[in-house]
Amino acid sequence: MLFVLSSSVNAEPDNHDVGDKECYLCHKYIKKNTGFLQSSHGVLFSNTPRNKWEARGCEACHGEGARHLDVAGVDGYSGPQLIQSFKPESDNIESINELCSGCHQGGDTLHWSGSLHQMSDLACTSCHTLHSKQREVKPKVCENCHTEIRAKLQRSSHMPMREGVISCMDCHNAHGSSTDAALSKPSLNETCYQCHAEKRGPFIWGHAPVQENCATCHDPHGSSHNGMLKMRPPYLCQSCHQTVFHPSEVRGGSGLSGTSISKFMGGKSCVNCHSKIHGSSHPSGAALQR
Ligand code: HEC
Ligand code: HEC
Ligand code: HEC
Ligand code: HEC
Ligand code: HEC
Ligand code: HEC
Ligand code: HEC
Ligand code: HEC
Ligand code: HEC
Ligand code: HEC
Repeated sequence: MLFVLSSSVNAEPDNHDVGDKECYLCHKYIKKNTGFLQSSHGVLFSNTPRNKWEARGCEACHGEGARHLDVAGVDGYSGPQLIQSFKPESDNIESINELCSGCHQGGDTLHWSGSLHQMSDLACTSCHTLHSKQREVKPKVCENCHTEIRAKLQRSSHMPMREGVISCMDCHNAHGSSTDAALSKPSLNETCYQCHAEKRGPFIWGHAPVQENCATCHDPHGSSHNGMLKMRPPYLCQSCHQTVFHPSEVRGGSGLSGTSISKFMGGKSCVNCHSKIHGSSHPSGAALQR
């Protein structure tokens, strides 16, 4: 299969493949220092190609090299190198993505086309680095762009993400998915149940918002309230429940001045009594207290 890069460089009629040996003459360090030959692409393309495209080796990605050889290393030459460079400059993002997608369309990358990342002009190489055997993904790549999320990870209540126990990819597919927010599972709650299976139930007494969407109450990236809550109880609870007949105010009306703090409203407040907030299977747990 002959792949033609959309960049004008390789559309030149006098361009053609020259073979890996030529490349190594000048780019010795690619062989010696980068571990490329031990990477998936290196092993396959250089040693055990399964088709004509893979057999092009370096040129399977960098495109035909003949014109590059005409200019590369020539004394005093300072023009373009006439080869696909993968520098994520805006003018070649499309050709990079087209190239990579030529071989990677299924599996994890199925939903790439139309994903927010694709539409925001990210290149595959915004995240991937291919000349290294250890890793194909740049370190800290998500946090570098998503600074707001990075800030949330620093809040007092968070899952062990900055500690390295779980990662963005436990919940997201970087290439997009069929859900909002590119989640890795078919729904938000399914994403959480991977690790919090006990919250799935079934319960005799369920709590409607829990079964509906964990993120109604929790911020998955971190929060300054206990338990990664978006809001502190009682306010969180009172955003849905109006309770006139029992403890519902931080500063109750029981004191003379109406400013005493109800003993039930300190700390976890409503959850002091309604501790089975995610659901209860106790025969008399209808009010989620046991
Ligand atoms: C005659 C020596 C020579 C040969 C042979 C050669 N290159 Fe280069 N190449 C250079 C020089 C010099 C540069 C510019 C300096 C640099 O970036 O290292 C360069 C730059 C590059 C770049 C970066 C381009 C850019 O715009 O920054 C790539 C990619 C590349 N070469 C790939 C290849 C591939 C693939 C082959 C084999 C098809 C090859 N080179 C063969 C000398 C050579
Ligand atoms: C000629 C086909 C081809 C091209 C072009 C290609 N790849 Fe691959 N890539 C493969 C094959 C084959 C594998 C081995 C694993 C597999 O079968 O998916 C692979 C593996 C990978 C992996 C996984 C590495 C691993 O160790 O599992 C990543 C990431 C990847 N490619 C990204 C890219 C990116 C980014 C580009 C564009 C710069 C690209 N590929 C271009 C064929 C290709
Ligand atoms: C926003 C960052 C990002 C972008 C953009 C991106 N990837 Fe990835 N990709 C990742 C991460 C992170 C992983 C590792 C997933 C994991 O470890 O679960 C990955 C994994 C892969 C894999 C290996 C999947 C497997 O089954 O092991 C391939 C192949 C791949 N990416 C190809 C591509 C291609 C092709 C593009 C462009 C069309 C692309 N990626 C764009 C972040 C990205
Ligand atoms: C699977 C696609 C792919 C293949 C095959 C490939 N490269 Fe690259 N190359 C890239 C990407 C992507 C970059 C951008 C930098 C990075 O990802 O590490 C790059 C960067 C480069 C650069 C410039 C940056 C640097 O690291 O100096 C040179 C030179 C280069 N490649 C040479 C080669 C040579 C020589 C071969 C064959 C031995 C080769 N490449 C095979 C994808 C590929
Ligand atoms: C425990 C699961 C989980 C982890 C881990 C996770 N996220 Fe999320 N992320 C979500 C959920 C769930 C949503 C949707 C939130 C909603 O609908 O309210 C989301 C939404 C997002 C959004 C969309 C904007 C927004 O703030 O709602 C971005 C961007 C994002 N996550 C980036 C990241 C990054 C970057 C990482 C790693 C540092 C990460 N996420 C780790 C679950 C997770
Ligand atoms: C080069 C910058 C960049 C990198 C790197 C990057 N993102 Fe994004 N991401 C964006 C942009 C731009 C958007 C579009 C929405 C926005 O502006 O926040 C986005 C959106 C998202 C969304 C929301 C998707 C949706 O469909 O609602 C999630 C989730 C996300 N990124 C996760 C990640 C993860 C996980 C990584 C690391 C593997 C990552 N991003 C790396 C720039 C980046
Ligand atoms: C990949 C595994 C994983 C996934 C997926 C996951 N969690 Fe967690 N979660 C953890 C771990 C580990 C902890 C820390 C548990 C501990 O310290 O005992 C935790 C803790 C929590 C806590 C308690 C935090 C605190 O400060 O007390 C909440 C709330 C939570 N997760 C909600 C969620 C929600 C909501 C989702 C889905 C958006 C989710 N989790 C998805 C692993 C996960
Ligand atoms: C109605 C609001 C609400 C919803 C919806 C909700 N939670 Fe919670 N969650 C709480 C409260 C309140 C706490 C107790 C926080 C504290 O004070 O420590 C809590 C605590 C947690 C904890 C840490 C303590 C424990 O019980 O293990 C985890 C984990 C957790 N929630 C996971 C989830 C998951 C997963 C979902 C979705 C299936 C979910 N939550 C939905 C309100 C909610
Ligand atoms: C997003 C809205 C929402 C939030 C936030 C919320 N709830 Fe609920 N809660 C509901 C709904 C809906 C029901 C089911 C009501 C029904 O069936 O009449 C319910 C039922 C209950 C019940 C069972 C009582 C009954 O009538 O079945 C208790 C107790 C309860 N919630 C306490 C709390 C507490 C405590 C909090 C705060 C940690 C909270 N809720 C947060 C919506 C919410
Ligand atoms: C001192 C313990 C206690 C505290 C604190 C408490 N509750 Fe209750 N709550 C109860 C008991 C006991 C019931 C069951 C009453 C009954 O069955 O008549 C109940 C019932 C409820 C019900 C169901 C009412 C109904 O119509 O059946 C809701 C909703 C509720 N509480 C919400 C809250 C909210 C919101 C807060 C915090 C603002 C809160 N509770 C704080 C003990 C408490």
